[in-house]
Amino acid sequence: MAQRIYLDNAATSWPKPELVYDAADLFLRKLGAASGRGGYQNALEANRIVERTRRGIARLIGAGNSNQVAFTCSGTDSLNLAIQGILRPGDHVVTTHCEHNSVLRPLQAMQEMARVEISFVPCDEQGTVSPNAVREALRPETRLVAVIHASNVTGALQPVGEIGQILSKHQALLLVDAAQSLGHVPIDVHDFEIDLLAAPGHKGLLGPLGTGLLYIREGVEQHLRPLRLGGTGTQSNEDSQPDTLPEKYEAGNHNLPGLAGLAAAVEWLEARTIEQIHSRHMQMTEQLIDGLAAIDGIRIVGPRSTAQRTSVVSFAADGYDPQEFAVCLDVSAGVECRAGLHCAPRMHAALGSDRTGGLVRLSPGWSTTDEEIELALSAIATLAESLIKYPHG
Ligand SMILES: Cc1ncc(COP(=O)(O)O)c(C=O)c1O
Repeated sequence: MAQRIYLDNAATSWPKPELVYDAADLFLRKLGAASGRGGYQNALEANRIVERTRRGIARLIGAGNSNQVAFTCSGTDSLNLAIQGILRPGDHVVTTHCEHNSVLRPLQAMQEMARVEISFVPCDEQGTVSPNAVREALRPETRLVAVIHASNVTGALQPVGEIGQILSKHQALLLVDAAQSLGHVPIDVHDFEIDLLAAPGHKGLLGPLGTGLLYIREGVEQHLRPLRLGGTGTQSNEDSQPDTLPEKYEAGNHNLPGLAGLAAAVEWLEARTIEQIHSRHMQMTEQLIDGLAAIDGIRIVGPRSTAQRTSVVSFAADGYDPQEFAVCLDVSAGVECRAGLHCAPRMHAALGSDRTGGLVRLSPGWSTTDEEIELALSAIATLAESLIKYPHG
């Protein structure tokens, strides 16, 4: 079989721990029942799977009451629910240049549809936002502050706890996009004073694609409109959507194979601890940064230190279009990575990398080996060297 070095875990994690496949397979083959609807044994078992997953996520983020965790189908879905569900006409929002299009586009739509005003806070060359800049952007009518926790371009971690502290004295709610941080670094929603935490289940959490979650701080649900309405298997005689959690936000059948896999993944993460996983990721990040820094024609963008980051490492290759470089890496050495603007156009504009078509991003995962990183570095060095020897044109 051809060599495959998967360094695109920031898009979705692969491979998953073996027991994630087993759990999804077991559900599909043996159980197969919908949750929250039937009263027969297998339907009750399906309920237990959903609730086990919910409790696992709640433990991981320190949520206390697991009903405050609603399942969605992706990080994007969770962010849409949070943004469109909270904002009202005329509201003001503070966000940052570091955000993903899954925050930027719903906000833009709210600006067009509901006259929502948006203030953008800049970031430094590492991709970090200053909590003071967030404080200065606040207005009495600010309803929401939407902040990415870890950049999907530079890997920089934002000072979310400090922003949470600032907001604890303000009426604005804090929405954290934890797409690149949950499963990578410890998160405690109470310590960080987070009101809404959106995350996919398929990236750092190591669950299957098609899973996502939104944590909703107790009381915030009173202001959070559901976007998807329909059958919940409860209060079926009522014309309107139940007001109780989590059904309010979970109309329609659950993605049970996905949630079964996610429950297994969360338990796998808990057994290893997030701290241990982060420490292994930082070893690989160091190896990547040291290796890339030694290659002529390669320029690393983002934090060099491992103190406040995740394992996303992006670089520019002099003279290469990033997409072209990534395709060459795949074809020449089976290195799979993501190049371009990474759905974060403002971030690339802030870093200046938008002018050259973005960057090449490497994102190792729990099962990446040192040897795979060395092979990837050597393929990058060969490509960079070939351009020095044989420049285009
Ligand atoms: C920072 C960030 N936010 C949101 C998302 C969207 O998550 P999903 O792919 O699950 O919709 C991503 C995915 O790449 C991301 O990196």
